[in-house]
Amino acid sequence: MKFFRILATTLLTLSLLGAAQARSLDVIRKDGRIIVATEGQFAPFNYFKGSTLTGFEVELAELVTQRMGLKTEWKTVGFDALLTGLQQDRWDLVIASHGVTPERAKAVTFTAPHYCSGGIVVSLDPAIRSAKDLAGKVVAVQTGTSYLESVQKIPGIKEMKNFPTDVDARSALLSHRVDAWVTDRFVAKEMIAKAPNAGMKLGDMVFVERIAAAVAKGNQALADAWSKALAQTMADGSYTALSQKYFGEDVRCH
Ligand code: ARG
Repeated sequence: MKFFRILATTLLTLSLLGAAQARSLDVIRKDGRIIVATEGQFAPFNYFKGSTLTGFEVELAELVTQRMGLKTEWKTVGFDALLTGLQQDRWDLVIASHGVTPERAKAVTFTAPHYCSGGIVVSLDPAIRSAKDLAGKVVAVQTGTSYLESVQKIPGIKEMKNFPTDVDARSALLSHRVDAWVTDRFVAKEMIAKAPNAGMKLGDMVFVERIAAAVAKGNQALADAWSKALAQTMADGSYTALSQKYFGEDVRCH
């Protein structure tokens, strides 16, 4: 009896460990394809053009994985599910504009950063520009983002409204349900350029961050292989060409 109980416990433990085990670089290489997850609602970084997933991060990931000798299989899921999915081994890598934060670094392993940016204030009211101006105001941010974390720390904020996507947060601003929207600097620039008559004004940066892809915690060989291939795209001109196409400038971290 005791033997069977021990055997059952051992098997259960092993299967639980197995379930949480991320695919190693070797396993991925043998398979020939890497499963990459993103959100698909964060233009111009990852978004849908009709039914096609595209964007700076999507095209960059294709360049990087090609250099790694792999095919990419894409998955798109809600922003909230992306990093936890790594722990559950639902995909191998996430690229969705995640800022490298100490909190996230406890749960996942980050690769080298693929761009540097930051949160910026967008408002319809030209008097709302800086972090200081947000005192007494209602601010829209996407749930689970670094924008939420940093805006929360601004003294005197009246209310933070959370939205499942950044697109919803922007809609809240355009329909006057909030006083300001805090989003990525390049996202804001693109939206203002695309809708010049919407009255959106670009304010100041609230904070800066390094943006990187992430793999399951401790899957270091995979993170290193990605970072190495990314560095090659940054050295051979392909990163610059892609960055120029999307932003008219090189967005790498300096
Ligand atoms: N850079 C911000 C963060 O680190 C926002 C990322 C939002 N990404 C997205 N795919 N919606 O949280």
